[in-house]
Amino acid sequence: MKPRVLLFGSAGQVGRDLAILLPQVSLVCALDRGQADLLQFEAVRASIRESKPKFVVNAAAYTAVDRAETEPQIAETINTDALGVIGEEAKKIGAIVIHYSTDYVFDGSKDSPYVEDDLPSPLNVYGRTKLDGEVALQESGAEYFILRTSSVYSTRGRNFLVAILKRATLHEELQVVRDQIGAPTWSRMIAAATTNVIQKLAIEASRDLSEHYPSGIYHMTAAGQTSWHGFAEAILEEYSSFPEALPWLNDATQGKELVAKRVQAISSSEYPALARRPINSVLANDKFCRVFGFRLPDWREQLNLAVRDAQLDLTMNEVRGLREQCTQIRGSRRSRPPKGMAFCRVNSQFGALTARNPILLIPACICYAPLGRSPLPGGCRDANQLPRRRCLRSSLLAARRPLVRSPL
Ligand SMILES: NC(=O)c1ccc[n+]([C@@H]2O[C@H](COP(=O)([O-])OP(=O)(O)OC[C@H]3O[C@@H](n4cnc5c(N)ncnc54)[C@H](OP(=O)(O)O)[C@@H]3O)[C@@H](O)[C@H]2O)c1
Repeated sequence: MKPRVLLFGSAGQVGRDLAILLPQVSLVCALDRGQADLLQFEAVRASIRESKPKFVVNAAAYTAVDRAETEPQIAETINTDALGVIGEEAKKIGAIVIHYSTDYVFDGSKDSPYVEDDLPSPLNVYGRTKLDGEVALQESGAEYFILRTSSVYSTRGRNFLVAILKRATLHEELQVVRDQIGAPTWSRMIAAATTNVIQKLAIEASRDLSEHYPSGIYHMTAAGQTSWHGFAEAILEEYSSFPEALPWLNDATQGKELVAKRVQAISSSEYPALARRPINSVLANDKFCRVFGFRLPDWREQLNLAVRDAQLDLTMNEVRGLREQCTQIRGSRRSRPPKGMAFCRVNSQFGALTARNPILLIPACICYAPLGRSPLPGGCRDANQLPRRRCLRSSLLAARRPLVRSPL
């Protein structure tokens, strides 16, 4: 039976995508700020008591980094105190809390990616309140998974991707900070990974979780790294190769053409902000990968999927299952696909990664038009043409979009 999940913050970037993806593996009660305000502790307690979830996922947070400097008390109540309350209530009913934290718990002085055991030392109020929230949850005694992520963006709402596109409709030259390095992570990828984590935890939940999936802090960001400047350039590069006018893009630009021609790199000191930010906020994802068995794709690959509004309704488990089948076939060098499977050519609009490895073996049940445009009649003759793991996954994730969205 699917486990019950209570989601706080369902209208945020990550929350919105969770509300879409979690029903694949759970019975979800998704609450936005109007339905459960984290400033109202009694309401928070009541919603946990009433819905009796196996998992509480908290995607609600005070995320206005600069505003937090002038509203520390509100930020603290939402990001810190509410976590103690959620943890306490979850402990009473034996629920597992999944909570998001941030790269901003670190001061950025390390010259390599931060691991979970590195000493936090936040530079701003937001980072401090998030760090204190981690501690409050840990001290509550509830079973918890704190997923620290970074530079979250989505195709809707207020975030860097949308802001850059808006500014690019107004100015020929954009000025963007080059000396803050991180790993921009797409909200939908965070939601897909969380869905996968919950699926895994739910299977183990009746046994002792700690054996395979120990409670704790995990870094979960896109792989790779870039500066805000690098991210801005990549956004404009992606924009120039958009295959079609997508609705979200029209909303972001309000239907206007982009006039930006250059992105000029500036230093943090040339872009004064109320809150100080870490120079290096790259997080190492090895612990997450070791425990949960997968990594989030590279930030550039995620951006490519995000701008196309790719639907990630394939859980990563399924993708891994496909890889395994793929490997088996590679070994046996069959000339025809086995029952229920099909060889397909990947539509090259999904870019160089897939174009280099154009042949995929996928289950026939998900072999829809865009992928199945030119199935190879005699099967794949050269086993070496089968894609490498990373390409297979990115191709599959990308290929899902046209299945649920008709091209405009
Ligand atoms: N955004 C980033 O760059 C980033 C980076 C690292 C980590 N994170 C962490 O990732 C998680 C998800 O972030 P996100 O980007 O999805 O944030 P987001 O888009 O700002 O969404 C946060 C959600 O929390 C809700 N919220 C704020 N105050 C609330 C309250 N008092 N009661 C209930 N809900 C409240 C907001 O409601 P409204 O919609 O009504 O405003 C919003 O829907 C957060 O824990 C955040 O700290 C974010």
